[in-house]
Amino acid sequence: MSDIYYEIILDHYRYPRNKGQIENADIKVRDSNPLCGDEIEYTIKLDANKNTIIDIKFEGKGCAISQASASILSEIVKGKTIDEIKQMNKDNLLKELGNPKLGPTRIKCALLPLKTLKLGIYSFIGQHFTEES
Ligand code: FES
Repeated sequence: MSDIYYEIILDHYRYPRNKGQIENADIKVRDSNPLCGDEIEYTIKLDANKNTIIDIKFEGKGCAISQASASILSEIVKGKTIDEIKQMNKDNLLKELGNPKLGPTRIKCALLPLKTLKLGIYSFIGQHFTEES
């Protein structure tokens, strides 16, 4: 694993950004990694048009990769529209993590936050969510 990957993960794990909960959130979503039971919960505030994320916070318990990834993702998506979130894919997030070379188990850790966020967005707009969405 590369040094840059370690640095990014450790920094966000030790000093998580946007940690906490938003009162009166428009979207509240929680999901877990079925392999280990670790969880991420996002609370999200949208703009008046209910189209753009103006604030987002997360809570969670889990490994350093999942929690750091949740922190990084929260920074990326603030200010993005719902359509932009729908178009985000796992490669976008992995790039922000420093393109780590992870096995299938650890990839699930890294992608749990994106899966959770998309689940919340798709539920909010009333569309069915699958892992391929
Ligand atoms: Fe549970 Fe990583 S070991 S999310």
